[in-house]
Amino acid sequence: MKRRNFVRSLLGGALYSMLGCESQPTRADNLSFAHGVASGDPMTDRVILWTRVSGLAGESVDVRWRTASDRNMRTILQQGVFRTGAHRDYTIKVDAKGLPPGRTVFFQFDVGERRSPVGRSRTLPTGSPDRASFAVVSCANHPYGYFHVYRDIAHRDNLAAVIHLGDYIYEYGMGEYATERAEQLGRVPQPDGRLVDLKDYRARHAQYKADVDSQAMHAAHPLIAVWDDHELANDAWRDGAENHRQDDGGWDGRRDAAIQAWLEWMPVRVSHKAESTRIFRRYRYGDLLSLIMLDTRLHGRDRQPDAGPAVSSESVRHAMRDPKRRMLGTSQEGWLRRTLKQSKGTLWQVIGQQVMLSPTRSPELGPLLDLDRESMLPREQLDIYIEQSKGNPPMLLDTWNGYPAAREDFLEDLRDYADNPVVLSGDLHTSLAGNLIPNNGSDPVAVEFMTTSVTSPGFAEYLPEIRPGAVRDATLELNPSLCYMETDRRGWVLLTVDRKACSAEWHLVDTVHEQDYTVSVDASWSVSAGNIGMGLQPRDSS
Ligand SMILES: [Fe+2]
Repeated sequence: MKRRNFVRSLLGGALYSMLGCESQPTRADNLSFAHGVASGDPMTDRVILWTRVSGLAGESVDVRWRTASDRNMRTILQQGVFRTGAHRDYTIKVDAKGLPPGRTVFFQFDVGERRSPVGRSRTLPTGSPDRASFAVVSCANHPYGYFHVYRDIAHRDNLAAVIHLGDYIYEYGMGEYATERAEQLGRVPQPDGRLVDLKDYRARHAQYKADVDSQAMHAAHPLIAVWDDHELANDAWRDGAENHRQDDGGWDGRRDAAIQAWLEWMPVRVSHKAESTRIFRRYRYGDLLSLIMLDTRLHGRDRQPDAGPAVSSESVRHAMRDPKRRMLGTSQEGWLRRTLKQSKGTLWQVIGQQVMLSPTRSPELGPLLDLDRESMLPREQLDIYIEQSKGNPPMLLDTWNGYPAAREDFLEDLRDYADNPVVLSGDLHTSLAGNLIPNNGSDPVAVEFMTTSVTSPGFAEYLPEIRPGAVRDATLELNPSLCYMETDRRGWVLLTVDRKACSAEWHLVDTVHEQDYTVSVDASWSVSAGNIGMGLQPRDSS
């Protein structure tokens, strides 16, 4: 086919003329799939397929997609055409239906004669599966290090999905948070400023999806993702964020831009129209488990007690005592209660959400820090942290620690409506396992598995500890409901659910700053089905 006719067929005749392309057609051989392929939000008969066409400048284009039961794409299951254009940043998102349940499927796109890499995905099973395994990740800060964690996950077989608990991108510009190593690593943020409008958020998503390790993970497993704050702005809540300034314009416009880019660039089955902040949803793995994904960040979260104008120690105390302050919001709480009741037919209820749920008090930092040692933080900031930690206050009020009444309601709902609840969390750049015990001091009503970051720095990298692990040890001693904590290394959690137990293995890498790395299992903890009240038990991971 002659190139001119070929491009005409790509664009569709009428549009081709309308755009005035007769004189300057896009060169079809300039088109590419530079951001790889991805899949996500599996159901028993369908999965979201994602890619993006690079090289277009204003035109719309038809992209063909197909699913197959083999990697060579010979036995085609379904196929179709999706039209994309500038209005959606040239992303393609297909809800590919008619797939068999509980099966590995492959997918590919093409535009003209250009073919994308082949992706692998997996549908949800029906019936009574014996086990399901997931990778759990959060907090992938591109300028701070290599995505070795994504590479390690890409090499895994037999994962049902990758559960991403948010901070898939970070909104900061060069010179801001965690960009100290960006130039040295060749990972300077694009655009170089902080993200404010749609163009910014799209460009940042594009940079993250150009990463080869991210592409490898996405091509290997379906993703189940929720956002945390940095997909929008640091410490976001329903009506604002810590990292949102007056000269950024209105919060609503910035939030909507961030959400639009997220919806365009992520393989999620979330409506682009109605109620755009509603991302909480449920997946069912036969009668083995229900996976319930929540939004603790945006949908119904009241402002953090220590945020906003006119904060004082009295206002913080007042907010902490206020029984009405919400984390999920009343409509999501009602949905959660109904969903937990409906999940009674499954053995496990795995709840994926963003922030630490375990009630945790901060150790006094003064005796644990050596202020003569070099630190990434200025001395004045360390002095503030030391002062704030006096008297062992609740740790980090952006987590559930800042919403004690809402947390107690959440734990009561888990006790009343779930059989075997397991809560996943991220956000803290820390590996952690704990028993979730209500204020009445009863047996645990659930357990928490927290995944550390993919790259983002842990607090041990900022604090000049008197010895490695000093803050961790003091935190564990002060909070006996916590069983395990690791602050120094980055990694992911392998979550395995079977008929007898739900276990977590922390796979940690030794560096994200060097090209070569090793990964090892740091710890493994599990809880028995029907015995949540017994709490977590260590597992021999050797
Ligand atoms: Fe984070």
